[in-house]
Order: sequence, then structure tokens, then C-alpha cells
Amino acid sequence: MNIGIFDSGIGGITLLHQALVMLPNENYIFYADTDNAPYGTKSKEQVIALVDDVMRFMTAHDCKAVVIACNTATAAAADVMREKYPIPIIGIEPAVKPAVKESHGKRVLVAATPLTVREEKLHNLVKRVDDAHLVDLLALPKLVEFAERGEFASDEVEQYLKNALSKYALDTYGELVLGCTHFNYFKDTFRKILPKDVHMIDGSEGTVRQLAHILESINQLELGNAHNEKNDTRVRYFSSGRELKEEQELEYVRRLHERLEKMRVL
Ligand code: DGL
Repeated sequence: MNIGIFDSGIGGITLLHQALVMLPNENYIFYADTDNAPYGTKSKEQVIALVDDVMRFMTAHDCKAVVIACNTATAAAADVMREKYPIPIIGIEPAVKPAVKESHGKRVLVAATPLTVREEKLHNLVKRVDDAHLVDLLALPKLVEFAERGEFASDEVEQYLKNALSKYALDTYGELVLGCTHFNYFKDTFRKILPKDVHMIDGSEGTVRQLAHILESINQLELGNAHNEKNDTRVRYFSSGRELKEEQELEYVRRLHERLEKMRVL
């Protein structure tokens, strides 16, 4: 059986990348809803309808669990999907809780899409963990567009981020939460702009840990030695329902994994 992982686009590969490191014996279906990206500038109702289509695809493709590797889709649609589908659905949320803990009293900036920033789910999370009122929310919609067109480290990206971050006294911040899976591709540019001691954090590791925990609790975690080496043959990639088979497309996916591997250490 498969683990389904999906996002509006290439951001979800962040989660897949982490899953391949932590759960190397599983089979994966990765689905990017490229035809409908971005989700973050759509309405909640639109995103619920799109996520529902993807969930139907996942359940028709032998998935034992589905990870919504998109903070936006999780905020807008995870609860609705859990009522509708009987398989475990794991969502990714901005890592606000660990960020507040690790910032040691300094401020925390949470960057996400406009829909995530608007959604009650994030506001409730902040209310629960931010007693000292240290958290600020920032929408960065253009980063998703840059990522989807493969523009990761240009002058335009740097200018956009410099401008967006110029409103904050960055030396009063301890943590930057990457609250959109697309944002991980830009860690090198963030690193250039942020003071040295501002740490970046995202939710993928916690989400994969939760996935493992849930699979274990239902005896569905693959512990065996079915795959000795990391390779992409046990991941099937789909773009809005169409399987990627062309060497050129798969090569692009490999390059995205390589970029994410580099970004891990920043
Ligand atoms: N990658 C998604 C997230 O984590 C959203 C990107 C989009 O706007 O489609 O929120």
C-alpha cells in the first residue's frame, strides 16, 4: 500500500523528502495539484473542493494514509476531509509551538500564504501557545509563484523578501517559521537577509513523526528491509492526475530534491 502526499505544487516535495529520510521502506504517491496552484490566494470553499478531488484520487490509488503537505489546505480542509474519508489524514501546520519554545523570549515571525494567515486554525494555534504575545504573522504569496516557475534565488526573490521583511526589527526575532511548504526552497535567500542568530523552522519533521506514529498505531508502518537504498523508484509522481513519466520531468523532480537537501543545513 501507499502513503499519499500532496500539495498544490512542488512545496510538498519538502515533506516527501523528509518522509524518504525517516520512513525509507514505504511506497509513496506524490501529487502536486499544479493545474490549480496556488491554493493560498483562493477562498476556503475553493480549496475544500480541490482537496476533495485529490482525496478521491488518493483513495482510488491504494493509499493507507494521506499527508496534506500543504499548510493552506490543512488549515482550510483537513477537518472536513477527516469527516468524509475513513483513512488517516495527517496535515502540516506552521511549527509555531516549537518556535515559541525555542525562541527563548525573542519574537517569532510566522510566514505563510494569505489563506493560512487568515484562517481560524492558525489564529487558534497562536492563541494556545503564545501567552507572551511574541508571534507575528506575515503572508508571502509571491514566493509560491516564484517556486512554481522554478525561480529560487534571483535578485527579484531577494528584493521581494527584503522588502517584506523590512517592516520588522529582525534582531528582536529568534525564530522564523516557514509556514508554507514552498518556502523551504528559499532558505538560502532568507539566510542572507536574516541576522545570523535567527533560526528557521518548518513543520515537516514533526508531521512525518506524527505520520509514523499513526501508522504504527494501526500496524501499518513498514519496518522491513524492502528497500535498502534511497531511490525514486518507489515514488510515483503525479501532476493534477497525470503521472510524470518523461525523463525531463523526473530530472526536474530530482533537482528539486537536491535543492532541498542543500537547504536542510541552513
Ligand atoms: N505549499 C502550500 C502551503 O504549505 C501552499 C502554496 C499555495 O499557495 O498553493 O501552504
